[in-house]
This record gives sequence, structure tokens and C-alpha cells, in this order.
Amino acid sequence: MRDIEWLDNATFEIGGHKITMNYEYGGSKRKSAPSDFTMMKSRSFLDQYLQHKGEDFRRILEMGVYQGGSFVFLDQVFNPDRISAIELAVEPIPALDAYVEKHKARASLYYGTSQDDVPRLAQIIDQDFGGELDLVVDDASHFYDQTKAGFAYAFPRLRPGGLYIIEDWSWSFFEDYQREDHPWAAHHSLANLAVDLMEEMALGGAIEDMIVSPHMIKVRRSQQKASEIFKTNARRGRNYQLI
Ligand SMILES: C[S@@+](CC[C@H](N)C(=O)[O-])C[C@H]1O[C@@H](n2cnc3c(N)ncnc32)[C@H](O)[C@@H]1O
Repeated sequence: MRDIEWLDNATFEIGGHKITMNYEYGGSKRKSAPSDFTMMKSRSFLDQYLQHKGEDFRRILEMGVYQGGSFVFLDQVFNPDRISAIELAVEPIPALDAYVEKHKARASLYYGTSQDDVPRLAQIIDQDFGGELDLVVDDASHFYDQTKAGFAYAFPRLRPGGLYIIEDWSWSFFEDYQREDHPWAAHHSLANLAVDLMEEMALGGAIEDMIVSPHMIKVRRSQQKASEIFKTNARRGRNYQLI
């Protein structure tokens, strides 16, 4: 478990790597360089992860790496036995590739892999983690269908007490995303998933609790052995529309 040393308000060093937080609407333009990574999070996100320092997160799966800063951050802060990540984009991130290569006994990165590609997810979770995870960080599509598909498969693979973090669930409430010509206008809000999770928590038994905060939802796996989730559809027996 390594400590963070702040160099300025947006940049810190950990384990000999510099990480700069560059959170820009539409995507950071800052590319990672060797041991000089870009992370698309603000400091308040970071604090929410640091609250868990010391927790037993030996097997970490990240969805959505962008320039790789979060991958290095998770690896350095939690010092897992195994960390793997999936990323939809196929364009390599050389600085991250070099990091993964250096730590290849325990680190893997799969480009061109979508979080809703369940057969591939199953393969990766089995092959890299022996089928069981301690922490999943989903900072990938932020779309309801894809996020739910990844969650439905990966959440039951958490060990009892494991944690699943879904970042940026609240985008659909913000002004820019309300526009009909916004590129995400046709996608359903992740707020729908928050309601699905509440339903699951009430009826399904696999969820111990969930913490919803402005930037993320943290879902804690219960001690029960539920292998499937989202089996019910009990919104008072009524049809409902997704927002
Ligand atoms: C917000 S960025 C991730 C930022 C990174 N976790 C960080 O904190 O620096 C979202 C990333 O998810 C990837 N992505 C989008 N849809 C995805 C999907 N369906 N499956 C996996 N990755 C996806 C994007 O290509 C992008 O790199």
C-alpha cells in the first residue's frame, strides 16, 4: 500500500509514477507518457477511493482505462495480486502498455473489449482471477444497457463483501446531456440502473448495501451465494419507461 505525494493540486506521485488528473468534458486531450499518466478523475473521486485503502482488494478488474492513469492508481494504491482491465478502444496507449509489460506477472490489459461482451468477460475473469474478484471499477460506457450487462455478469463474481464501483452514474441530469442533439441523447440514463439496484437489494439478496454519491455508486456484495441477479421485475407490477 503506497502513499500519495501531491506535487500540485492536480498531480501526484505514487510508487515512482506521476499521475495528473485532467477531467475535461468530452475527454481529456492530455496523453500519457512513460511514468507520467493522465487520469480522467477529479480529486473528489480520488478521495472516495482512498477511503478504501487497506481493504482486501487482491483481485481488481477495471472497465474503461482511457489514458491509463486510473489503472496505475488502483494498482499502486491497493497493491493487488492481480489487476486486469478492459477497454473498448483499440488504439494502444504506449505508456500503459509499458507499465503492464513491466508488471505482466500480475497485470493485463485487453483492448477492443466491451463491458457488455459477456463471453469475453467470463473468459477474462476465469483466466485472470480464477472466477472471483474483490473490486470492480466500471468507468466505461456509462450507458444503461452496457453497464447493466457487465454488472449482471461481474457482480455475482465478487467475493462476499467485495465492492463494485460504477462511476459517473449521474450524467443524464446535467444540462449539456439534456440537449436532444447530444451524442448520448439516445442512451438511457444510468439512473435507471440505480433503481434496478435498489430493487435487487430489496428482493434478490446479493447486495448488502449501496452508497450513492454525486460521482459514483458503490455496491457491496452480500454474504449470500446469489449467482444471478436482475431476475425480478417488480416495479409494483406495472410497466415503466426508462428515462
Ligand atoms: C471516462 S473514460 C475512463 C477514464 C479512466 N478510468 C480514468 O479514470 O482515467 C471511459 C473509457 O471507457 C471506454 N469505453 C467506452 N465504452 C466502453 C465499453 N462498452 N466497454 C469498455 N470500455 C468502454 C472509453 O473508450 C474510454 O477509454
